[in-house]
Amino acid sequence: MDKKFRIMIVGCGWISQEWLDVFAVRKDVEIAAMVDINPEAAKQRQQEYNINCDIYTDFDIALEEVKPEIVVNLANGPVHCDIDLKCLGAGVHVFSEKPLCMSREEGAQLLQAVKESGCVLDVMQNRRYLAPVRAMRHAVQSGALGKIWMVCSEIYVNSDLKGGRNSLEFPMLQDQAIHSFDTARFILGKDAKTVYCHSYNPEGSHYNGDGSGACIFEMEDGIVLVYNAVMDTNTMKTAWHSQWRIIGTKGTAVWNGFDEYAQVEYINEDGTTEKGVLNPPADWDGIIWFAGAINEMLTALKEGRVSENNCDYNYGSVAMTFSAIESAKTGQKVEVK
Ligand SMILES: NC(=O)c1ccc[n+]([C@@H]2O[C@H](COP(=O)([O-])OP(=O)(O)OC[C@H]3O[C@@H](n4cnc5c(N)ncnc54)[C@H](O)[C@@H]3O)[C@@H](O)[C@H]2O)c1
Repeated sequence: MDKKFRIMIVGCGWISQEWLDVFAVRKDVEIAAMVDINPEAAKQRQQEYNINCDIYTDFDIALEEVKPEIVVNLANGPVHCDIDLKCLGAGVHVFSEKPLCMSREEGAQLLQAVKESGCVLDVMQNRRYLAPVRAMRHAVQSGALGKIWMVCSEIYVNSDLKGGRNSLEFPMLQDQAIHSFDTARFILGKDAKTVYCHSYNPEGSHYNGDGSGACIFEMEDGIVLVYNAVMDTNTMKTAWHSQWRIIGTKGTAVWNGFDEYAQVEYINEDGTTEKGVLNPPADWDGIIWFAGAINEMLTALKEGRVSENNCDYNYGSVAMTFSAIESAKTGQKVEVK
């Protein structure tokens, strides 16, 4: 029989629905407790998903009493580090929502704590588990697009301000950008080296902090990554997945973020071009979105291997946020670290 992990959910807000939808159909987890500083939030989820478990409002007491094997940290970003450090200190694995942490200092503390504890700290990056993303990654990493020189990710949406986004100084960079930054690294298999960022808040924005911005990253191998984000527009909106363009010496891939597939135009040897659709690699299991990410985290834990979602790798994505903020504040191109 499959192992059943005893898990404790911390934070029962909006995103907990995505995770609970997945846990509801998995046979290898049991929810031992739910924690939220707002007990009504936990009660609501308990009723919706018919979960029979204890509810706590104090995380410290819950950790001590429940002794879970995994804490699923779905609280707001600013409290992720504190909760995760306590879990790791108690020898408990953590699956956390993005972002891993809110600063370089928090990141260093977490990576050190993981090393010392021998526990796992995995981070949700659900956009990696989409067929067009897997297909673009395959096209890049198999060499089908040739040497890659430019990637562009653009998002134009109107996001609501639920969940404390509006208390952030750089809501676009601190909340949304991580999705594209991580996806770009995942597709390219390359890290970011430098960034220049111009961050701003357009006239009429409903954000307090900067809801928009543009970043130019120099990635390894001289690849340029352009990220343009406007989080406060109601016209000609893109998908939340962003729209993507990847240009290489042998062709260009595009994904509009809505379709189930990415498109490609290859350059033939005689200079003519040929359009087609990109497919994910045959060995991809095809499990998408939160189900795909959670499956990878749990399977890796069972197999004793490092998950795709491990925090050491993820720090390379969140570091792009920290360096973009540093660039926005100083007006300088800065190293990504
Ligand atoms: N992966 C994605 O696509 C995605 C999408 C949306 C949000 N998120 C992330 O999920 C996290 C939560 O976002 P949300 O939209 O659900 O926010 P939310 O505000 O709806 O829910 C957060 C919940 O955490 C609770 N909470 C806060 N501090 C706590 C603490 N110390 N102990 C216990 N509970 C605590 C709050 O009371 C609230 O119920 C954020 O980090 C956000 O960035 C990820």
